[in-house]
Amino acid sequence: MRDVVVRLLTVTLFGVGHLFARSTRVLNHLAAGTLTIRQLRVGIERTWEEFSARDIDVAAGLMAWEEEMIARFVTRDDDVLLVGSGQGRDLVALVGDGYNVTAVEPARRAIATSRRQLAMRGLSADIIEGFFEDVALHRRFDVIIFSGCCYSFIPESRRRIAALRKASEHLTARGRILINYMTESSGHPMLIRLARFAGALTRSDWRPEPGDIVLLVDPARPLFHYEHPFRPGEIESEALAAGLRTAHRCDVPGNPLVVLVANEASGCVNHSSTGLKAGV
Ligand SMILES: C[S@@+](CC[C@H](N)C(=O)[O-])C[C@H]1O[C@@H](n2cnc3c(N)ncnc32)[C@H](O)[C@@H]1O
Repeated sequence: MRDVVVRLLTVTLFGVGHLFARSTRVLNHLAAGTLTIRQLRVGIERTWEEFSARDIDVAAGLMAWEEEMIARFVTRDDDVLLVGSGQGRDLVALVGDGYNVTAVEPARRAIATSRRQLAMRGLSADIIEGFFEDVALHRRFDVIIFSGCCYSFIPESRRRIAALRKASEHLTARGRILINYMTESSGHPMLIRLARFAGALTRSDWRPEPGDIVLLVDPARPLFHYEHPFRPGEIESEALAAGLRTAHRCDVPGNPLVVLVANEASGCVNHSSTGLKAGV
């Protein structure tokens, strides 16, 4: 008899806990929907401030697929803009390897780390502080790389398209834009609908969209990480809307890569044949 009662208690407590956990997820999504873009960005910046910044992670340098991407689409004569340089893993590797790179990064602590990592190696690079959408760019680049899936961290399709237009306006005639992006979706679609509803109700200046993911990054404050995994064809549609076309698509598992060029451009450099599987 005692065992049955205890079992009943266990199941009830577990069930109530489960219910609270689900309610927390619903309430968090409603809260995220009420944020303004400025407030949402505090969470985005916070996510990347906290991201691992050990010397060993930066020293790891480029991943194999990134090395292939660079070998195939970038030359040492190119003026490169690396968007989302973070703590400097790819920035340090590229500058150290003789590439001519300017970076853009919003997370201040990450910028400080990357500057320190460059200095430790006797290297330097111009790092423009801020979100790509906001920063002033005073010249054109041959290659603009949205690194580390950072294109997926720009909320709203219309704002991403505007960012692509801005990138396109800062390309040289032979310029190309390299984007690797997230594809793995998670969460129940209803949660984002609720977030969207909360945004409409509070007349926030952005709306969560189908497929978006928001995750609480601080248990004590309403700070959220945002990301948008792309469905097949979605990134190509955003590129088209920005007056760009997809010149290459490479199936890097989990984070595919697209190379975009201006609609009127004839193509992009293809210096070496590599293992990156290209579509288009
Ligand atoms: C996954 S980290 C990549 C860091 C580094 N490039 C690497 O691959 O190790 C993504 C970076 O993008 C930055 N980021 C997010 N949104 C951005 C935006 N709108 N403009 C520029 N950078 C952004 C984040 O602060 C973060 O440092």
